[in-house]
Amino acid sequence: MDQALIEEIRQANNIVDVVGSYIPLKRSGSSFKAQCPFHDDSHPSMMISDKKQIFKCFVCGKGGNAITFVQEYEHISFIEAVKKLAERAGITVAEEKKKTKVIKTKNQLMLQVYDDAKRYFVNNLNKFGEEVIVYLEKRGITRDAIKNYDIGYALDSFNGLKNHLLNKHYGADILKASGLFGSNNNGHYDLFRERLIFPIHSSSGKVVAFGGRKLNEEQMGGKYINSPTTDIYTKGKELYGFFLTKFDIGKMDYAIICEGYMDFLRLYSTGYTNSVASLGTALTDDQLKILKQFTKKLYMAYDGDDAGMKAALRGSLIALGFGYKVNIIELPEGEDPDSYLLKFGKESFDGLIDKALPFIDFYSSSPKIKLDKKTRIDELLQVLNTISDEIAKDLLVKEISESFKVKESSIRVGLKKNRPRFRTDVKKSREPFSVSKYTEEKFVLILAIHSKLYEHILEELDETYFYVEKYKRLFKFIEKNYERVIEISTPSAILNLTEDEDIRNELSELIYEDSPSTDIDKFITEMKHRKLLEELIIVSDQLLQSPDNQELYKKKKEIRTQIRLLGAQVIGKTLH
Ligand code: GTP
Ligand code: MN
Repeated sequence: MDQALIEEIRQANNIVDVVGSYIPLKRSGSSFKAQCPFHDDSHPSMMISDKKQIFKCFVCGKGGNAITFVQEYEHISFIEAVKKLAERAGITVAEEKKKTKVIKTKNQLMLQVYDDAKRYFVNNLNKFGEEVIVYLEKRGITRDAIKNYDIGYALDSFNGLKNHLLNKHYGADILKASGLFGSNNNGHYDLFRERLIFPIHSSSGKVVAFGGRKLNEEQMGGKYINSPTTDIYTKGKELYGFFLTKFDIGKMDYAIICEGYMDFLRLYSTGYTNSVASLGTALTDDQLKILKQFTKKLYMAYDGDDAGMKAALRGSLIALGFGYKVNIIELPEGEDPDSYLLKFGKESFDGLIDKALPFIDFYSSSPKIKLDKKTRIDELLQVLNTISDEIAKDLLVKEISESFKVKESSIRVGLKKNRPRFRTDVKKSREPFSVSKYTEEKFVLILAIHSKLYEHILEELDETYFYVEKYKRLFKFIEKNYERVIEISTPSAILNLTEDEDIRNELSELIYEDSPSTDIDKFITEMKHRKLLEELIIVSDQLLQSPDNQELYKKKKEIRTQIRLLGAQVIGKTLH
Protein backbone atom coordinates (compact mmCIF):
# COMPACT_ATOMS: atom_id res chain seq x y z
CA MET A 1 0.00 0.00 0.00
CA ASP A 2 1.16 3.49 -0.80
CA GLN A 3 2.82 5.39 2.09
CA ALA A 4 0.84 8.56 1.40
CA LEU A 5 -2.43 6.65 1.57
CA ILE A 6 -1.39 4.98 4.83
CA GLU A 7 -0.63 8.41 6.23
CA GLU A 8 -3.96 9.80 5.06
CA ILE A 9 -5.73 6.95 6.81
CA ARG A 10 -3.72 7.42 9.98
CA GLN A 11 -4.44 11.12 10.09
CA ALA A 12 -8.14 10.52 9.56
CA ASN A 13 -8.17 8.47 12.78
CA ASN A 14 -7.44 10.42 15.91
CA ILE A 15 -5.49 8.15 18.26
CA VAL A 16 -7.56 9.27 21.24
CA ASP A 17 -10.75 8.06 19.56
CA VAL A 18 -9.14 4.87 18.34
CA VAL A 19 -7.65 3.82 21.68
CA GLY A 20 -10.79 5.08 23.42
CA SER A 21 -12.90 2.71 21.37
CA TYR A 22 -11.02 -0.25 22.88
CA ILE A 23 -10.30 0.80 26.46
CA PRO A 24 -11.52 3.50 28.86
CA LEU A 25 -9.50 6.73 28.90
CA LYS A 26 -9.09 9.39 31.53
CA ARG A 27 -8.07 12.93 30.76
CA SER A 28 -4.76 13.96 32.29
CA GLY A 29 -3.67 17.48 31.47
CA SER A 30 -3.38 17.81 27.74
CA SER A 31 -3.12 14.04 27.31
CA PHE A 32 -5.10 10.95 28.26
CA LYS A 33 -4.28 8.04 30.54
CA ALA A 34 -5.36 4.42 30.40
CA GLN A 35 -4.65 1.09 31.99
CA CYS A 36 -2.09 -0.44 29.63
CA PRO A 37 -3.56 -3.42 27.75
CA PHE A 38 -0.11 -4.75 26.82
CA HIS A 39 0.90 -5.74 30.31
CA ASP A 40 -0.86 -6.63 33.52
CA ASP A 41 -1.32 -3.04 34.58
CA SER A 42 -2.76 -2.19 37.98
CA HIS A 43 -3.07 1.55 37.50
CA PRO A 44 -3.12 3.74 34.39
CA SER A 45 0.44 3.72 33.05
CA MET A 46 -0.27 4.34 29.40
CA MET A 47 -0.34 7.89 28.07
CA ILE A 48 -2.15 8.82 24.89
CA SER A 49 -1.21 12.16 23.41
CA ASP A 50 -3.70 14.01 21.26
CA LYS A 51 -1.13 16.51 20.15
CA LYS A 52 1.54 14.02 19.20
CA GLN A 53 -0.83 11.28 18.09
CA ILE A 54 1.01 8.52 19.88
CA PHE A 55 0.59 6.21 22.85
CA LYS A 56 3.32 5.20 25.24
CA CYS A 57 3.31 2.96 28.31
CA PHE A 58 5.86 4.04 30.85
CA VAL A 59 5.87 0.71 32.63
CA CYS A 60 6.22 -1.89 29.90
CA GLY A 61 7.68 0.45 27.30
CA LYS A 62 5.16 -0.29 24.57
CA GLY A 63 4.48 2.63 22.26
CA GLY A 64 3.23 3.48 18.79
CA ASN A 65 0.66 5.33 16.72
CA ALA A 66 -3.02 4.66 15.97
CA ILE A 67 -2.24 2.00 13.39
CA THR A 68 0.23 0.06 15.46
CA PHE A 69 -2.12 0.21 18.45
CA VAL A 70 -4.83 -1.54 16.49
CA GLN A 71 -2.29 -3.94 15.05
CA GLU A 72 -0.96 -4.99 18.44
CA TYR A 73 -4.24 -4.85 20.34
CA GLU A 74 -6.01 -7.03 17.80
CA HIS A 75 -2.97 -9.16 16.94
CA ILE A 76 -3.37 -8.45 13.23
CA SER A 77 -0.88 -7.36 10.59
CA PHE A 78 0.02 -3.76 9.94
CA ILE A 79 -1.84 -3.75 6.62
CA GLU A 80 -4.92 -5.30 8.20
CA ALA A 81 -4.88 -2.58 10.83
CA VAL A 82 -4.59 0.08 8.13
CA LYS A 83 -7.60 -1.40 6.32
CA LYS A 84 -9.61 -1.51 9.51
CA LEU A 85 -8.91 2.16 10.19
CA ALA A 86 -9.65 3.06 6.57
CA GLU A 87 -13.07 1.53 6.96
CA ARG A 88 -13.59 3.35 10.24
CA ALA A 89 -12.84 6.69 8.56
CA GLY A 90 -14.81 5.87 5.42
CA ILE A 91 -11.81 5.81 3.14
CA THR A 92 -11.92 3.23 0.36
CA VAL A 93 -8.80 1.29 -0.32
CA ALA A 94 -8.60 -0.02 -3.84
CA GLU A 95 -7.27 -3.57 -3.79
CA GLU A 96 -4.16 -3.60 -5.89
CA LYS A 97 -3.47 -7.25 -6.44
CA LYS A 98 0.21 -6.94 -7.22
CA LYS A 99 1.16 -4.33 -4.71
CA THR A 100 -0.46 -5.85 -1.64
CA LYS A 101 1.97 -8.72 -1.73
CA VAL A 102 4.03 -7.90 1.29
CA ILE A 103 7.74 -8.11 0.75
CA LYS A 104 9.35 -9.30 3.93
CA THR A 105 12.63 -7.89 5.18
CA LYS A 106 15.42 -10.36 5.86
CA ASN A 107 14.91 -10.14 9.61
CA GLN A 108 11.21 -10.82 9.31
CA LEU A 109 11.95 -13.81 7.15
CA MET A 110 14.50 -15.04 9.66
CA LEU A 111 11.97 -14.72 12.49
CA GLN A 112 9.58 -16.72 10.38
CA VAL A 113 12.19 -19.45 9.88
CA TYR A 114 12.71 -19.63 13.63
CA ASP A 115 8.98 -19.68 14.25
CA ASP A 116 8.52 -22.52 11.79
CA ALA A 117 11.46 -24.39 13.27
CA LYS A 118 9.96 -23.95 16.73
CA ARG A 119 6.63 -25.38 15.58
CA TYR A 120 8.44 -28.28 13.99
CA PHE A 121 10.31 -29.12 17.22
CA VAL A 122 7.15 -28.76 19.35
CA ASN A 123 5.26 -30.97 16.97
CA ASN A 124 8.00 -33.59 17.18
CA LEU A 125 7.78 -33.59 20.93
CA ASN A 126 4.06 -34.19 20.88
CA LYS A 127 4.22 -36.82 18.16
CA PHE A 128 7.41 -38.73 18.84
CA GLY A 129 8.66 -37.49 22.18
CA GLU A 130 6.86 -39.67 24.71
CA GLU A 131 10.10 -40.65 26.44
CA VAL A 132 11.30 -37.09 26.35
CA ILE A 133 8.14 -35.90 28.06
CA VAL A 134 8.66 -38.53 30.74
CA TYR A 135 12.21 -37.21 31.18
CA LEU A 136 10.91 -33.65 31.57
CA GLU A 137 8.27 -34.69 34.06
CA LYS A 138 10.82 -36.62 36.07
CA ARG A 139 12.82 -33.41 36.24
CA GLY A 140 9.82 -31.54 37.59
CA ILE A 141 9.01 -29.45 34.52
CA THR A 142 5.25 -29.01 34.40
CA ARG A 143 3.09 -29.36 31.28
CA ASP A 144 2.34 -25.70 31.62
CA ALA A 145 6.00 -24.77 31.46
CA ILE A 146 6.56 -27.10 28.50
CA LYS A 147 3.72 -25.41 26.65
CA ASN A 148 4.43 -21.82 27.65
CA TYR A 149 8.09 -22.07 26.74
CA ASP A 150 7.53 -24.03 23.53
CA ILE A 151 9.86 -26.83 24.55
CA GLY A 152 10.48 -29.20 21.69
CA TYR A 153 12.38 -32.21 20.48
CA ALA A 154 14.92 -32.55 17.66
CA LEU A 155 14.79 -36.00 16.10
CA ASP A 156 17.87 -38.12 15.54
CA SER A 157 18.09 -37.03 11.91
CA PHE A 158 20.50 -35.05 9.77
CA ASN A 159 17.83 -33.50 7.59
CA GLY A 160 14.50 -33.48 9.43
CA LEU A 161 14.42 -29.74 9.95
CA LYS A 162 16.14 -29.04 6.67
CA ASN A 163 13.52 -30.89 4.66
CA HIS A 164 10.70 -29.42 6.67
CA LEU A 165 11.88 -25.88 5.92
CA LEU A 166 12.67 -26.62 2.28
CA ASN A 167 9.12 -27.89 1.90
CA LYS A 168 7.97 -24.52 3.15
CA HIS A 169 9.82 -22.96 0.21
CA TYR A 170 12.49 -21.06 2.08
CA GLY A 171 15.47 -20.20 -0.07
CA ALA A 172 18.92 -21.68 0.53
CA ASP A 173 20.30 -18.26 1.46
CA ILE A 174 17.98 -17.65 4.37
CA LEU A 175 18.45 -21.19 5.66
CA LYS A 176 22.20 -20.70 5.56
CA ALA A 177 21.93 -17.37 7.36
CA SER A 178 19.72 -18.93 10.03
CA GLY A 179 22.68 -20.73 11.59
CA LEU A 180 20.54 -23.82 12.17
CA PHE A 181 22.58 -25.97 9.81
CA GLY A 182 26.14 -27.14 9.57
CA SER A 183 27.81 -27.95 6.26
CA ASN A 184 30.27 -30.49 4.92
CA ASN A 185 31.12 -32.04 1.54
CA ASN A 186 27.63 -33.46 1.26
CA GLY A 187 25.90 -30.12 1.79
CA HIS A 188 23.93 -28.85 4.75
CA TYR A 189 22.68 -30.83 7.71
CA ASP A 190 20.64 -30.22 10.89
CA LEU A 191 22.75 -28.95 13.81
CA PHE A 192 20.25 -30.04 16.44
CA ARG A 193 19.88 -33.81 16.50
CA GLU A 194 18.42 -36.02 19.21
CA ARG A 195 18.20 -33.13 21.62
CA LEU A 196 15.71 -31.46 23.88
CA ILE A 197 15.01 -28.06 22.35
CA PHE A 198 14.67 -24.88 24.40
CA PRO A 199 13.59 -21.98 22.20
CA ILE A 200 15.08 -18.68 23.35
CA HIS A 201 12.52 -15.90 23.09
CA SER A 202 13.18 -12.19 22.76
CA SER A 203 11.60 -10.03 25.44
CA SER A 204 8.62 -9.54 23.18
CA GLY A 205 8.17 -13.29 22.81
CA LYS A 206 9.60 -14.03 19.38
CA VAL A 207 11.86 -17.06 19.03
CA VAL A 208 15.34 -15.85 18.06
CA ALA A 209 17.56 -18.82 18.91
CA PHE A 210 17.57 -22.38 20.25
CA GLY A 211 19.42 -24.24 22.94
CA GLY A 212 19.56 -28.01 22.67
CA ARG A 213 20.33 -30.42 25.51
CA LYS A 214 21.73 -33.91 25.11
CA LEU A 215 19.28 -36.63 25.97
CA ASN A 216 21.83 -39.18 27.06
CA GLU A 217 25.37 -39.05 28.30
CA GLU A 218 26.90 -41.19 25.54
CA GLN A 219 25.89 -38.70 22.88
CA MET A 220 28.58 -36.74 21.06
CA GLY A 221 29.06 -33.02 21.51
CA GLY A 222 28.61 -30.68 24.47
CA LYS A 223 25.82 -31.02 27.02
CA TYR A 224 24.21 -28.01 25.42
CA ILE A 225 24.57 -26.60 21.96
CA ASN A 226 23.27 -23.20 20.97
CA SER A 227 22.33 -21.65 17.69
CA PRO A 228 24.94 -19.02 16.79
CA THR A 229 24.80 -15.25 16.68
CA THR A 230 22.66 -14.11 13.75
CA ASP A 231 20.99 -10.91 12.58
CA ILE A 232 18.21 -11.56 15.09
CA TYR A 233 20.21 -12.96 18.02
CA THR A 234 23.22 -11.85 20.02
CA LYS A 235 24.42 -14.07 22.82
CA GLY A 236 24.14 -12.43 26.21
CA LYS A 237 21.43 -10.05 25.10
CA GLU A 238 18.33 -12.07 25.86
CA LEU A 239 17.14 -13.27 29.24
CA TYR A 240 15.73 -16.75 29.11
CA GLY A 241 12.11 -16.91 30.25
CA PHE A 242 11.72 -13.15 30.55
CA PHE A 243 8.99 -12.61 27.95
CA LEU A 244 6.48 -14.35 30.24
CA THR A 245 7.89 -13.51 33.66
CA LYS A 246 8.52 -9.81 33.13
CA PHE A 247 5.10 -8.74 34.35
CA ASP A 248 5.37 -10.71 37.57
CA ILE A 249 8.86 -9.33 38.00
CA GLY A 250 7.37 -5.86 37.75
CA LYS A 251 4.48 -6.68 40.07
CA MET A 252 6.58 -8.38 42.73
CA ASP A 253 9.36 -5.87 42.20
CA TYR A 254 12.20 -8.35 42.28
CA ALA A 255 13.68 -10.94 39.97
CA ILE A 256 15.31 -14.25 40.77
CA ILE A 257 18.32 -14.70 38.49
CA CYS A 258 19.59 -18.19 37.75
CA GLU A 259 22.07 -19.62 35.29
CA GLY A 260 20.53 -22.34 33.22
CA TYR A 261 17.47 -23.48 31.30
CA MET A 262 16.69 -26.26 33.74
CA ASP A 263 17.09 -24.00 36.76
CA PHE A 264 14.71 -21.52 35.25
CA LEU A 265 12.15 -24.08 34.19
CA ARG A 266 12.05 -25.68 37.59
CA LEU A 267 11.83 -22.33 39.37
CA TYR A 268 8.98 -21.41 37.05
CA SER A 269 7.30 -24.78 37.46
CA THR A 270 7.57 -24.47 41.25
CA GLY A 271 5.76 -21.14 41.17
CA TYR A 272 8.60 -18.64 41.04
CA THR A 273 7.12 -16.81 38.09
CA ASN A 274 9.43 -13.84 38.61
CA SER A 275 12.59 -15.65 37.52
CA VAL A 276 14.91 -15.40 34.53
CA ALA A 277 18.07 -17.20 33.43
CA SER A 278 21.18 -15.49 32.14
CA LEU A 279 22.17 -18.66 30.24
CA GLY A 280 25.62 -19.79 31.18
CA THR A 281 27.18 -16.36 31.57
CA ALA A 282 27.36 -13.68 34.18
CA LEU A 283 24.67 -11.05 33.73
CA THR A 284 25.53 -8.66 30.92
CA ASP A 285 24.99 -4.94 30.53
CA ASP A 286 22.35 -5.59 27.88
CA GLN A 287 20.41 -7.97 30.08
CA LEU A 288 20.51 -5.57 33.01
CA LYS A 289 19.25 -2.71 30.88
CA ILE A 290 16.25 -4.76 29.81
CA LEU A 291 15.44 -5.88 33.35
CA LYS A 292 15.70 -2.41 34.75
CA GLN A 293 12.41 -1.39 33.20
CA PHE A 294 10.67 -3.89 35.47
CA THR A 295 12.60 -3.99 38.71
CA LYS A 296 15.77 -2.83 40.37
CA LYS A 297 16.00 -5.65 42.88
CA LEU A 298 17.75 -8.94 42.15
CA TYR A 299 18.13 -12.24 43.97
CA MET A 300 21.04 -14.14 42.52
CA ALA A 301 20.53 -17.91 42.57
CA TYR A 302 23.65 -19.36 40.98
CA ASP A 303 25.32 -22.74 41.42
CA GLY A 304 26.91 -23.34 44.79
CA ASP A 305 30.31 -24.17 43.29
CA ASP A 306 33.28 -21.90 42.59
CA ALA A 307 32.35 -21.15 38.98
CA GLY A 308 28.78 -20.29 39.99
CA MET A 309 30.01 -18.05 42.76
CA LYS A 310 32.38 -16.23 40.41
CA ALA A 311 29.66 -15.65 37.84
CA ALA A 312 27.25 -14.44 40.51
CA LEU A 313 29.79 -11.99 41.90
CA ARG A 314 30.69 -10.62 38.50
CA GLY A 315 27.05 -10.08 37.59
CA SER A 316 26.31 -8.56 40.99
CA LEU A 317 29.10 -6.02 40.67
CA ILE A 318 27.84 -4.90 37.27
CA ALA A 319 24.29 -4.72 38.59
CA LEU A 320 25.44 -2.63 41.54
CA GLY A 321 26.90 -0.15 39.08
CA PHE A 322 23.54 0.07 37.35
CA GLY A 323 21.87 0.99 40.62
CA TYR A 324 20.33 -2.38 41.43
CA LYS A 325 19.86 -3.74 44.92
CA VAL A 326 21.39 -7.20 44.80
CA ASN A 327 20.91 -10.12 47.20
CA ILE A 328 22.74 -13.42 47.13
CA ILE A 329 20.87 -16.68 47.57
CA GLU A 330 23.38 -19.14 48.94
CA LEU A 331 23.10 -22.71 47.71
CA PRO A 332 25.03 -25.58 49.27
CA GLU A 333 28.14 -26.70 47.40
CA GLY A 334 27.18 -28.97 44.53
CA GLU A 335 23.60 -27.80 44.17
CA ASP A 336 21.94 -25.56 41.63
CA PRO A 337 18.40 -24.16 42.06
CA ASP A 338 17.06 -27.07 40.06
CA SER A 339 18.67 -29.84 42.13
CA TYR A 340 17.97 -27.96 45.37
CA LEU A 341 14.27 -27.64 44.65
CA LEU A 342 14.10 -31.29 43.67
CA LYS A 343 15.72 -32.38 46.93
CA PHE A 344 14.36 -29.90 49.45
CA GLY A 345 11.23 -28.36 47.94
CA LYS A 346 9.71 -24.91 47.75
CA GLU A 347 9.43 -24.12 51.44
CA SER A 348 13.10 -24.69 51.94
CA PHE A 349 13.95 -22.50 48.95
CA ASP A 350 11.68 -19.78 50.35
CA GLY A 351 13.87 -19.97 53.43
CA LEU A 352 16.96 -19.37 51.32
CA ILE A 353 15.33 -16.30 49.79
CA ASP A 354 14.52 -14.98 53.26
CA LYS A 355 18.08 -15.58 54.38
CA ALA A 356 19.67 -14.06 51.27
CA LEU A 357 22.20 -11.41 52.25
CA PRO A 358 22.47 -8.00 50.59
CA PHE A 359 25.41 -8.18 48.24
CA ILE A 360 27.84 -6.02 50.19
CA ASP A 361 27.16 -7.92 53.44
CA PHE A 362 27.74 -11.15 51.61
CA TYR A 363 30.84 -9.86 49.88
CA SER A 364 32.39 -8.74 53.14
CA SER A 365 31.60 -11.83 55.17
CA SER A 366 31.32 -14.97 53.07
CA PRO A 367 34.11 -17.50 53.58
CA LYS A 368 33.46 -18.62 50.01
CA ILE A 369 35.16 -15.51 48.68
CA LYS A 370 38.85 -16.08 48.51
CA LEU A 371 39.92 -12.49 47.78
CA ASP A 372 41.48 -10.53 50.62
CA LYS A 373 39.58 -7.67 52.17
CA LYS A 374 41.54 -4.92 50.47
CA THR A 375 41.02 -6.42 47.01
CA ARG A 376 37.30 -6.75 47.62
CA ILE A 377 37.01 -3.15 48.75
CA ASP A 378 39.00 -1.99 45.73
CA GLU A 379 36.67 -3.87 43.41
CA LEU A 380 33.70 -2.18 45.02
CA LEU A 381 35.35 1.22 44.77
CA GLN A 382 35.89 0.73 41.08
CA VAL A 383 32.20 0.05 40.65
CA LEU A 384 31.29 3.04 42.78
CA ASN A 385 33.39 5.26 40.58
CA THR A 386 31.17 4.43 37.64
CA ILE A 387 28.00 5.56 39.41
CA SER A 388 26.93 9.09 38.61
CA ASP A 389 24.09 9.29 41.15
CA GLU A 390 25.82 10.90 44.14
CA ILE A 391 23.18 9.91 46.66
CA ALA A 392 23.24 6.27 45.62
CA LYS A 393 27.00 6.38 45.82
CA ASP A 394 26.92 7.89 49.27
CA LEU A 395 24.58 5.20 50.56
CA LEU A 396 26.86 2.51 49.20
CA VAL A 397 29.87 4.10 50.88
CA LYS A 398 28.01 3.85 54.19
CA GLU A 399 27.11 0.24 53.51
CA ILE A 400 30.67 -0.70 52.65
CA SER A 401 31.95 1.07 55.71
CA GLU A 402 29.60 -0.81 58.01
CA SER A 403 30.01 -4.21 56.42
CA PHE A 404 33.77 -4.13 56.11
CA LYS A 405 34.27 -2.17 59.33
CA VAL A 406 36.34 0.51 57.65
CA LYS A 407 36.01 4.23 58.28
CA GLU A 408 33.85 6.09 55.78
CA SER A 409 36.55 8.68 55.36
CA SER A 410 39.07 6.02 54.30
CA ILE A 411 36.63 4.75 51.72
CA ARG A 412 36.21 8.22 50.32
CA VAL A 413 39.97 8.62 50.05
CA GLY A 414 40.09 5.22 48.35
CA LEU A 415 37.42 6.36 45.92
CA LYS A 416 39.61 9.22 44.77
CA LYS A 417 42.59 6.90 44.32
CA ASN A 418 40.57 4.41 42.34
CA ARG A 419 39.12 7.02 40.05
CA PRO A 420 39.64 5.81 36.52
CA ARG A 421 42.33 7.61 34.57
CA PHE A 422 41.55 8.95 31.16
CA ARG A 423 44.04 6.75 29.50
CA THR A 424 42.71 3.38 30.60
CA ASP A 425 39.59 1.71 29.37
CA VAL A 426 37.98 4.65 27.68
CA LYS A 427 35.47 2.38 26.05
CA LYS A 428 34.55 0.50 29.19
CA SER A 429 34.24 3.43 31.50
CA ARG A 430 31.97 5.47 29.30
CA GLU A 431 29.47 2.73 28.65
CA PRO A 432 26.72 1.89 30.38
CA PHE A 433 26.91 3.52 33.77
CA SER A 434 26.89 7.14 32.77
CA VAL A 435 24.28 6.90 30.06
CA SER A 436 22.52 9.90 31.56
CA LYS A 437 25.47 11.99 30.44
CA TYR A 438 24.66 11.25 26.85
CA THR A 439 21.55 13.34 26.64
CA GLU A 440 22.94 15.05 23.54
CA GLU A 441 22.22 11.93 21.55
CA LYS A 442 18.66 11.81 22.71
CA PHE A 443 18.04 15.49 22.05
CA VAL A 444 19.57 15.36 18.60
CA LEU A 445 17.15 12.58 17.73
CA ILE A 446 14.15 14.29 19.33
CA LEU A 447 14.85 17.48 17.41
CA ALA A 448 15.43 15.61 14.16
CA ILE A 449 12.10 13.84 14.53
CA HIS A 450 10.07 16.81 15.74
CA SER A 451 11.49 19.36 13.32
CA LYS A 452 12.18 17.07 10.38
CA LEU A 453 15.91 17.67 10.49
CA TYR A 454 16.79 14.21 9.26
CA GLU A 455 18.92 15.39 6.38
CA HIS A 456 20.80 17.69 8.68
CA ILE A 457 21.82 15.03 11.17
CA LEU A 458 22.71 12.58 8.42
CA GLU A 459 25.01 15.17 6.92
CA GLU A 460 26.64 16.11 10.21
CA LEU A 461 26.92 12.78 12.02
CA ASP A 462 27.45 9.10 11.50
CA GLU A 463 26.77 6.16 13.77
CA THR A 464 30.18 6.31 15.44
CA TYR A 465 29.12 9.51 17.17
CA PHE A 466 26.50 7.58 19.15
CA TYR A 467 27.59 5.78 22.30
CA VAL A 468 24.21 4.71 23.65
CA GLU A 469 23.20 1.50 21.92
CA LYS A 470 19.52 2.31 21.51
CA TYR A 471 20.17 5.75 20.07
CA LYS A 472 22.78 4.35 17.73
CA ARG A 473 20.18 1.87 16.55
CA LEU A 474 17.64 4.63 15.91
CA PHE A 475 20.20 6.65 13.99
CA LYS A 476 21.01 3.63 11.85
CA PHE A 477 17.32 3.08 11.28
CA ILE A 478 16.92 6.65 10.05
CA GLU A 479 20.00 6.30 7.88
CA LYS A 480 18.79 3.08 6.32
CA ASN A 481 15.27 4.33 5.65
CA TYR A 482 16.42 7.79 4.68
CA GLU A 483 14.34 8.10 1.53
CA ARG A 484 11.12 7.19 3.23
CA VAL A 485 11.87 9.09 6.42
CA ILE A 486 12.32 12.45 4.70
CA GLU A 487 8.92 12.02 3.03
CA ILE A 488 6.93 11.86 6.25
CA SER A 489 4.71 14.70 7.34
CA THR A 490 4.30 14.39 11.12
CA PRO A 491 6.50 12.80 13.78
CA SER A 492 4.23 9.86 14.53
CA ALA A 493 4.17 8.84 10.86
CA ILE A 494 7.71 7.51 11.25
CA LEU A 495 6.18 4.63 13.21
CA ASN A 496 4.57 3.38 10.01
CA LEU A 497 7.99 2.59 8.63
CA THR A 498 9.07 -0.28 10.84
CA GLU A 499 7.77 -3.58 12.12
CA ASP A 500 10.53 -3.76 14.71
CA GLU A 501 8.81 -3.41 18.05
CA ASP A 502 11.88 -2.25 19.94
CA ILE A 503 12.49 0.52 17.46
CA ARG A 504 8.84 1.54 17.55
CA ASN A 505 8.81 1.65 21.34
CA GLU A 506 11.97 3.73 21.45
CA LEU A 507 10.77 6.10 18.75
CA SER A 508 7.48 6.58 20.61
CA GLU A 509 9.38 7.59 23.69
CA LEU A 510 11.24 10.28 21.77
CA ILE A 511 8.11 11.50 20.01
CA TYR A 512 6.36 11.71 23.35
CA GLU A 513 8.99 14.00 24.85
CA ASP A 514 8.86 17.72 24.30
CA SER A 515 11.50 19.25 22.07
CA PRO A 516 14.20 21.14 23.90
CA SER A 517 14.30 24.78 22.87
CA THR A 518 18.04 24.59 22.26
CA ASP A 519 19.30 24.68 18.70
CA ILE A 520 20.12 21.22 17.35
CA ASP A 521 23.60 22.35 16.29
CA LYS A 522 24.55 22.88 19.92
CA PHE A 523 23.96 19.19 20.59
CA ILE A 524 25.66 18.15 17.38
CA THR A 525 28.69 20.19 18.33
CA GLU A 526 28.74 18.52 21.75
CA MET A 527 28.73 15.13 20.11
CA LYS A 528 31.55 16.07 17.80
CA HIS A 529 33.46 17.54 20.68
CA ARG A 530 33.27 14.48 22.86
CA LYS A 531 34.29 12.23 20.00
CA LEU A 532 37.35 14.37 19.40
CA LEU A 533 38.14 14.23 23.10
CA GLU A 534 37.94 10.49 22.96
CA GLU A 535 40.29 10.41 19.97
CA LEU A 536 42.63 12.72 21.82
CA ILE A 537 42.71 10.40 24.80
CA ILE A 538 43.45 7.42 22.61
CA VAL A 539 46.28 9.18 20.77
CA SER A 540 47.72 10.47 24.05
CA ASP A 541 47.63 6.95 25.33
CA GLN A 542 49.42 5.64 22.25
CA LEU A 543 52.00 8.39 22.65
CA LEU A 544 52.78 7.21 26.15
CA GLN A 545 53.60 3.80 24.69
CA SER A 546 55.70 5.19 21.84
CA PRO A 547 56.83 8.69 22.75
CA ASP A 548 59.00 9.08 19.63
CA ASN A 549 56.29 8.53 17.08
CA GLN A 550 56.10 11.75 15.06
CA GLU A 551 52.95 10.66 13.22
CA LEU A 552 51.12 10.43 16.52
CA TYR A 553 52.30 13.89 17.50
CA LYS A 554 50.96 15.25 14.26
CA LYS A 555 47.69 13.49 14.78
CA LYS A 556 47.40 14.82 18.29
CA LYS A 557 48.03 18.33 17.05
CA GLU A 558 45.42 17.96 14.36
CA ILE A 559 42.82 16.81 16.84
CA ARG A 560 43.69 19.71 19.12
CA THR A 561 43.16 22.10 16.22
CA GLN A 562 39.85 20.54 15.37
CA ILE A 563 38.72 20.86 18.95
CA ARG A 564 39.71 24.51 18.91
CA LEU A 565 37.88 25.01 15.62
CA LEU A 566 34.72 23.57 17.11
CA GLY A 567 35.09 26.63 19.21
CA ALA A 568 33.64 28.32 22.16
CA GLN A 569 30.15 26.88 21.73
CA VAL A 570 31.18 23.91 23.78
CA ILE A 571 30.85 24.62 27.43
CA GLY A 572 33.90 22.87 28.86
CA LYS A 573 32.36 19.43 28.96
CA THR A 574 34.63 16.47 29.54
CA LEU A 575 34.23 12.79 29.11
CA HIS A 576 33.79 11.92 32.74
P1 GTP B 1 21.13 -29.74 33.67
O1 GTP B 1 22.49 -30.36 33.68
O2 GTP B 1 20.21 -30.45 32.74
O3 GTP B 1 20.58 -29.59 35.03
O4 GTP B 1 21.27 -28.30 33.04
P2 GTP B 1 21.79 -26.97 33.72
O5 GTP B 1 21.01 -25.86 33.12
O6 GTP B 1 21.80 -27.08 35.20
O7 GTP B 1 23.29 -26.92 33.18
P3 GTP B 1 24.60 -26.37 33.85
O8 GTP B 1 24.42 -25.96 35.27
O9 GTP B 1 25.66 -27.36 33.52
O10 GTP B 1 24.89 -25.08 32.96
C1 GTP B 1 24.17 -23.88 33.15
C2 GTP B 1 23.93 -23.25 31.81
O11 GTP B 1 25.15 -23.05 31.14
C3 GTP B 1 23.10 -24.10 30.87
O12 GTP B 1 21.73 -23.97 31.09
C4 GTP B 1 23.54 -23.56 29.53
O13 GTP B 1 22.89 -22.31 29.25
C5 GTP B 1 25.01 -23.29 29.75
N1 GTP B 1 25.81 -24.47 29.35
C6 GTP B 1 26.16 -25.51 30.10
N2 GTP B 1 26.90 -26.41 29.42
C7 GTP B 1 27.01 -25.91 28.18
C8 GTP B 1 27.65 -26.38 26.98
O14 GTP B 1 28.25 -27.44 26.91
N3 GTP B 1 27.55 -25.56 25.88
C9 GTP B 1 26.88 -24.38 25.92
N4 GTP B 1 26.80 -23.63 24.80
N5 GTP B 1 26.27 -23.92 27.02
C10 GTP B 1 26.32 -24.67 28.14
MN1 MN C 1 21.35 -28.47 36.60
